[in-house]
Amino acid sequence: MTSVFRVRVTPGDAEFKIREGERILAAARRSGVWLPFECGWGACGTCKLTLTEGEIDPLFDTAPAIHPRDERRKRILACQSAACSDLVVKATWTDESPRAHLGTGDYTAQLEQVDELGPDIHRFRFRLDRPAEYREGQFALLELGPDLRRCYSMAATSGDHQVEFIAKRYDGGAGSERLFSLPLGSVVPMELPYGDMWLRQDTLPIVLIAGGTGVSAILALAQQLAAADDPRPVRAFYGAGSVDELVGRSELAHLLAGLPNGRLHATTSTPCADDSTPSGYVTDALAAHADSLTGARIYLAGPPPMVDAVLQLLSTSGHPLDTIHYDRFG
Ligand SMILES: Cc1cc2nc3c(=O)[nH]c(=O)nc-3n(C[C@H](O)[C@H](O)[C@H](O)COP(=O)(O)OP(=O)(O)OC[C@H]3O[C@@H](n4cnc5c(N)ncnc54)[C@H](O)[C@@H]3O)c2cc1C
Ligand code: FES
Repeated sequence: MTSVFRVRVTPGDAEFKIREGERILAAARRSGVWLPFECGWGACGTCKLTLTEGEIDPLFDTAPAIHPRDERRKRILACQSAACSDLVVKATWTDESPRAHLGTGDYTAQLEQVDELGPDIHRFRFRLDRPAEYREGQFALLELGPDLRRCYSMAATSGDHQVEFIAKRYDGGAGSERLFSLPLGSVVPMELPYGDMWLRQDTLPIVLIAGGTGVSAILALAQQLAAADDPRPVRAFYGAGSVDELVGRSELAHLLAGLPNGRLHATTSTPCADDSTPSGYVTDALAAHADSLTGARIYLAGPPPMVDAVLQLLSTSGHPLDTIHYDRFG
């Protein structure tokens, strides 16, 4: 029989039950206790708690947000820790309601449609058990099997029962291989929304930057801008390995064409046979159009090496950090 423990949160008097194996963050949320969080999977560190009493099971030892000093200070990740006993934890704050952009919930989703967009790149459409609200640019955590949770960015604007993801299959990648092997009709538990990369409402010009399947989040943002007839100038940069991997390129170009000064700079890291697309990395395209970055608010999504390279370029050029919003896919 599964054990049930109690978690007490200090300061204050919040308390909730947690089943053996359940994550502290999810158990708290399901009981109406909202602890700080943002990414939900171990990257941002927002959900760190101090463990005052009890034993936990750290479910993701190598989570990017874990530092050696955290163990000494008894700091744990609420999103990646399960209870092994009753617990007392200290949090920076608790609330009885979620923040505006993070009303995260548990959904079950049925796989309705899969479209092949490029080599080992598919678009997956799921139907949720109830309508979900999220901000374009945010992502979901898919429970693809026991202890197999992976993040995927919503590829379409928020609305009703449907969510779409653009995903790549990696050889030997447990999560992506599982996703690509799902037959139509499969039911997948998912939590959404997570993440902080959503459109800020101000007057700054906008630069959207996608690497590979990072185009998923960037397409959703471009759709949102187009649907709102947004008056801000928009530039987009999109890099992939080859022209075939620039999936969603024409959709993105079409959306941008309807926006003020909307322009897409696509690039491939391997030279393209017919010269239709410049070769190079996204950072090369950004360096060639550095003027478009000045004074802009930047939204960036893609694989870690690409995101890190772009952040380095922006930091070197002195771009203000508070106008950069990004999702690093790992
Ligand atoms: C915010 C975010 C958004 C993403 N959006 C997309 C997208 O739209 N399209 C897309 O194709 N990919 C996306 N990814 C990448 C995706 O989540 C997977 O990392 C990718 O599919 C490779 O997974 P894999 O299992 O096949 O490979 P593996 O090499 O087996 O997976 C390794 C990756 O899985 C993640 N991981 C490992 N253990 C855990 C754990 N316990 N809990 C949570 N995560 C864990 C880590 O990111 C790690 O780098 C996103 C990643 C993040 C973080
Ligand atoms: S590390 Fe837990 S919410 Fe980001």
